[in-house]
Amino acid sequence: MLVPGDPEGRRAWAVARRRMEQGREKHSPVRRRRRRKQHWDPFVHLLRVAEVGLRLIGLHRRGVRNALAFAVNRIDLAFVDLPPAFDGFRILQISDPHFDAVPGIDERLCALVAAEAVDLCVLTGDYLLKNGGSFAQVLPCFVRLAAAVEARHGIVAILGNHDPADLVPGIEASGIRVLINESLTVDRAGEAIHLTGTDDVHYFYTDAVPTALAAAPAGFRIALVHSAEAAALADTVGFQLYLAGHTHGGQVCLPGGRPLFTHLTCHQAYARGVWQHGTMTGYTSTGVGVSGIPVRFNCPGELAVITLRRQVRAQDQLALSSQ
Ligand SMILES: [Fe+2]
Repeated sequence: MLVPGDPEGRRAWAVARRRMEQGREKHSPVRRRRRRKQHWDPFVHLLRVAEVGLRLIGLHRRGVRNALAFAVNRIDLAFVDLPPAFDGFRILQISDPHFDAVPGIDERLCALVAAEAVDLCVLTGDYLLKNGGSFAQVLPCFVRLAAAVEARHGIVAILGNHDPADLVPGIEASGIRVLINESLTVDRAGEAIHLTGTDDVHYFYTDAVPTALAAAPAGFRIALVHSAEAAALADTVGFQLYLAGHTHGGQVCLPGGRPLFTHLTCHQAYARGVWQHGTMTGYTSTGVGVSGIPVRFNCPGELAVITLRRQVRAQDQLALSSQ
């Protein structure tokens, strides 16, 4: 695990990550499903054909309008082992903004977050439209977002599968803390919760991910991982909450919200919304932005405002009612 503020560890990680970015293989926690990135190429051709089809039948503009119609989604999650001082703690999760996918995304995002005073803001990856490549065009978006967010304990970010290692210094220059297989403790009224943020596990999984999860401090622990594909790893070592994005909820879904594609190598049932893996609760955001074809159908984008609630144990409830 990287020690926060360990420049040598961060440099070694960046060298290894760049090597993986230049390679042609996806590194997934499900070894038997390891695939080469070339498998993506036919899908990209299919997307281009589908995009032309949408224009021909007059649905493309509506899809783009849908993509810009993301809104705040409020969720309460209850935990019996949440420290009392964190009852009511509000986390703003912004996932998959893909800032350069559709003009106007970051303006709407900043306007929505400016109306939400929260305790913590987490960015769960995918800031670029393309996989890697140039990123200078999105750096001003981080600056504007950091200025718009009102979060008492600041903003924490992780990387997604679209985000190169070289983007990290630019994100951190805007005052946003990036966690790469690192943990961070949030203190409140003498109590604490712990965040562990990992590198992306859809393309860039390494053994540093389970090592970082296992090394998280004891107590109430929240995993920030770009995709739900490390859910079993986090549950095994006792995380209470897991926040992810990556799927865009499907982005283009059948009526009723059933996704056509999830881009998950495992845990496909965790493609959207609240889920449970063992004793761990998870939330997969449908995300702010879009990739591939810049449209949404039957799958609204979102910023999630997650309020943590302390759940009274049944035996405590009985003791209270008998008093
Ligand atoms: Fe994404």
